[in-house]
Amino acid sequence: MYNITLIPGDGIGPEVINSAKKVIEATGINVKWDIVNAGEDVYRQRGVLVPHEVYTSIEKNRVVLKGPITTPIGCGFRSINVLLRKKYELFANVRPVKKMMGVDTPFEDVDLVIFRENTEGLYSGIERNKDNDGAEAIKIITKKASLRIIEAAFKYAKENNRKKVALVHKANIMKLTDGLFLNCAREVSKNYPDIELQEVIVDNMCMQLVMNPSKYEVIVTTNLYGDILSDLCAGLVGGLGLVPGGNIGKEMAVFEAVHGSAPDIAGKDLANPIAVILSGAMMLKYLGEIGKANLIIDAVEKTIKEGKYVTKDLGGSSSTTDMTDAIIENFTLK
Ligand code: NAI
Ligand code: MG
Repeated sequence: MYNITLIPGDGIGPEVINSAKKVIEATGINVKWDIVNAGEDVYRQRGVLVPHEVYTSIEKNRVVLKGPITTPIGCGFRSINVLLRKKYELFANVRPVKKMMGVDTPFEDVDLVIFRENTEGLYSGIERNKDNDGAEAIKIITKKASLRIIEAAFKYAKENNRKKVALVHKANIMKLTDGLFLNCAREVSKNYPDIELQEVIVDNMCMQLVMNPSKYEVIVTTNLYGDILSDLCAGLVGGLGLVPGGNIGKEMAVFEAVHGSAPDIAGKDLANPIAVILSGAMMLKYLGEIGKANLIIDAVEKTIKEGKYVTKDLGGSSSTTDMTDAIIENFTLK
């Protein structure tokens, strides 16, 4: 039996997490969910953003499936997502972006994986007002954090028969910080002679991705660029409702979609649950349950290809609930 921490989160979080829970349970896997919550809703009810039982549960179970958590813009509390990633050194934010059959997009062959550095960069939270006319933010890049995320990307490429790793940077302008990140990649790549290192400046990368995304197989980059490129890449394959992710550390992992709490559609049974369902499949793979993970992935792909029960973002008119049930119906139990 697996003990897994489940964090529903804010906005559409509880709806899509509930879908993922149902789908995972339908595989027949034996899971004991430890349901705890953090975020805006919890703060409203209890006056605390991350109750202590959240930390206790994460530290005990070490595997988490999490919904999105709202972060106020321009003021208020700092991101709980960033806090958890830093606190538990979940250094690799891994986001597979794959075009599925049946989704209407201009590109047929997008299949890449983003490795985003998850613990430093411009997300270090070191910001201050200066005099009365300005503000500063500090970007932190360390050799330790750079090497481990780049190594993870190359290792993934090697193990999954991918031939290229694109290192995305802005070292022409940020010579010391991004320069260090780039140099780390050159160092790591020497140990992987069969894998091509593509060095791409981030603004050019945005253009390349929207013109010809099939040129890329694995992308590794710093925190902010990785965040931005993740949403851009989601747009290439049908939107945020489809792209899963994992925040992976040495002995702990938090799985969550790329998307946020989508307040514009929350509580309406409209959200596409696939991104969180596929995050659940990534979690099962992490636990070694490859067969059950593939069962879910196949059922998701079949449901999208059939196109009968898909949510509005994919051009359909199904609810979150109906799409979830259709996915479970499409299990081909072996
Ligand atoms: P968002 O990802 O929540 O939404 C962007 C757009 O995509 C919206 O139009 C939304 O309706 C749509 N969308 C997102 N997920 C969808 C789904 N599953 N099905 C159908 N449509 C979907 O990004 P936004 O609006 O910038 O952020 C909202 C809140 O979420 C903010 O407070 C932000 O800080 C937070 N956030 C949290 C994340 C996390 O917990 N990991 C990640 C990203 C944002
Ligand atoms: Mg983001």
